[in-house]
Amino acid sequence: MFKVISKIEKSYDLNVVMYFENQMKICEHISAGNKKLIEKLIVKKEFVGKKGDSLKIEFLEEEHLVSMLFIGMGKEEEFNEDIYREIIFENLSKEKGSILISSDNEKLSNYELLAEIVGNINYSFDEFKTKKEKTIEVELFLIKNVNNLDEIISLVDSTDIAKKLVDLPANIINPKSLSEKVSELGKKYGFEVEIIDEKGIEKLEMNLLLAVGRSSIIKSKLIVMRYLVDDSSEEKIGLIGKGLTYDTGGLCTKSPDSMFDMKTDMAGAAAVIGAMCAVAKNKLDKNVIAIVPACENAIDGNAYRPGDIIKSMNGKSVEIINTDAEGRLVLADAITYAIRNEKVTEIVDVATLTGAVLVALGTITTGVFSTCDERYICLENASVKYGEKIWRMPLFEEYNEFLKSTVADVKHTGGRMGGAITAAKFLQGFTEGLPWIHMDIAGTSYNSGVKWNKKGATGVGVKALYTYIKNR
Ligand code: BES
Ligand code: MG
Ligand code: ZN
Repeated sequence: MFKVISKIEKSYDLNVVMYFENQMKICEHISAGNKKLIEKLIVKKEFVGKKGDSLKIEFLEEEHLVSMLFIGMGKEEEFNEDIYREIIFENLSKEKGSILISSDNEKLSNYELLAEIVGNINYSFDEFKTKKEKTIEVELFLIKNVNNLDEIISLVDSTDIAKKLVDLPANIINPKSLSEKVSELGKKYGFEVEIIDEKGIEKLEMNLLLAVGRSSIIKSKLIVMRYLVDDSSEEKIGLIGKGLTYDTGGLCTKSPDSMFDMKTDMAGAAAVIGAMCAVAKNKLDKNVIAIVPACENAIDGNAYRPGDIIKSMNGKSVEIINTDAEGRLVLADAITYAIRNEKVTEIVDVATLTGAVLVALGTITTGVFSTCDERYICLENASVKYGEKIWRMPLFEEYNEFLKSTVADVKHTGGRMGGAITAAKFLQGFTEGLPWIHMDIAGTSYNSGVKWNKKGATGVGVKALYTYIKNR
């Protein structure tokens, strides 16, 4: 799919050359006649390498048909990595077959970015289509030793795992099949997996998780992934991913339009599963525990109801307001389990938690809440590296007012206004003062507005979580 080479040994379906504006140079090894042809065409088409401009030229060179694609990257001083992602994704998406890429500019010979972009282009959810989508095979010509290519390829691979879990529909991915899949991944990548079934969940008194999942024919599972390698450290990073394999809304049923995409309500789970694969594959020297409360928010006569009062694993009683706010319930019990039973020392949860975060930030930016400035910055740096935008949201004490219940310790929703924030405040109530980050990926996990992703799952969070863990 993607390789870095230092010697060109075969011929390619397409030869791509990237240039900054007004920095074009024609490669040495082209014959004098064709060089002239290219120069003439460039003048005729007024191609100077403006941002996003491209020029395709085909000619014969010693009996071989050579296809060249010149891509303009705009002014060097205005360049950034997102421009690169956008332009290269757009241009290479139209191609297929083997592609050689080169540039004599160091900034444009970015193998990390290219691997990421080629990964995005080649991922397609087409296993249910008779006619498969085309793929590209890209080789970057680079006279330099690259030592972390395996790591980069593994991040593409882990992102693909997450995307596929999200794209698969709920008649395929349910709590049972998801847990089986994670067990396989654990064996393949090298982390331990424990699946706790409904009886076990009952024993643990995770009543919030039980309540949400109990109306589904397929019973809830608590998926626990352990990667514990560093005895010398007390630190244990706890990742928690919302694993709603489908969200009908429960008795407070969603409208058909807003229900349609709810197979993706386990994108948080997919992100932490993908991150675990990458962490184990690259043998990071960190202790990591990942927890996925996996269940389906369905509807039957046994469904939990608005008005119910449920005792959480933490001990707090929770008044149920709207059964469509199920994510925070399963996460609350998962957080308690991570703290009390797995002894994690910090928490990062990832969840398609609220429609409100979509209203606030749209499909471009993940809303992030954190009780720790340093850790937030670490996550921000990790996210930016992969073109994933995050924005910090407030956790002011005042928002707790909206969660006050007259009949229980806490109400589980806080009304329409500031809905992403009150959801976060609800979760914070279960973190027992541990350093905590909450990522609301409802807007960014699927059909995001980012131009270098296809429609469908984005795999948001996988690479960022991996890099966060690596740098912590
Ligand atoms: N899974 C949804 C949030 C969501 C919305 C994810 C759109 C992806 C796209 C969540 O369980 C939900 O339904 N939240 C409710 C909460 C409300 C009832 C307080 C919402 O946001 O409407
Ligand atoms: Mg819901
Ligand atoms: Zn949901």
